[in-house]
Amino acid sequence: MSRKAAAVVAAKVASDNCAVLGLATGSTPIGLYQNLVKWNNEGLISFKKVQTVNLDEYCGLPREHDQSYAYFMNDNLFSHIDIDLNNTHLPDGTNPDPKKACEDYDEVLEKIGRQDVQVLGLGNNGHIGFNEPCDEFKPNVNHVMLTKSTIEANARFFETVDDVPKSAYTMGFKAIMRAKQILLVVSGAGKAEILEKALFGPITPQVPASILQLHGDVVVCADDEAMAKIKELHPEAIL
Ligand code: F6R
Repeated sequence: MSRKAAAVVAAKVASDNCAVLGLATGSTPIGLYQNLVKWNNEGLISFKKVQTVNLDEYCGLPREHDQSYAYFMNDNLFSHIDIDLNNTHLPDGTNPDPKKACEDYDEVLEKIGRQDVQVLGLGNNGHIGFNEPCDEFKPNVNHVMLTKSTIEANARFFETVDDVPKSAYTMGFKAIMRAKQILLVVSGAGKAEILEKALFGPITPQVPASILQLHGDVVVCADDEAMAKIKELHPEAIL
């Protein structure tokens, strides 16, 4: 799964050395990043002129905190490849003014203007980025209160569940959906039901990933466990 997903990203970089990559954190894309690191170290692809925009960042964690998404990206990708760190972008989790933090990141996204590919993971509740289930697809960068389900899911990375930040800044749907291609990476039996709902259920902000049904170029890289429900209910959809 990770190798195939990495190949989708590497193809963009190989065909355009100034590609813009939209990146995600979480456990699912770690293998994808390991493959990119390997191919970069072998001289097969270069990130020297590549730009990146990340989906989200926890509020209140400094970049040096080992659970901040800035730290994650350095640790899993940026510090191992030939990318110019000035070309890498995340929301500023340390900005205590949510309105300003969101406006600033929207400005960054606006200036960069595109993602050639946007990597997405899938939350247990169908979130993409940190866009949690709610009543609307919010277009712009927004300040989200994390749901109990997300806080519990992410508690595995913190000492206690109380240490998980309660809110985050996330890219909104306007910037996610403008990506030329979406790469949705999903792993594990725990995601089987929500993946089926997202791709075959009603399009609703209560299942944020369902909006991807409206995008013309979505590549889904999922392992057998995550694909189980789709295989059962929609065998005709499997390539
Ligand atoms: C992280 C992000 C989240 C994760 C999702 C799945 O940047 O955008 O939407 O992709 O929570 O996380 P994992 O991969 O840890 O199951």
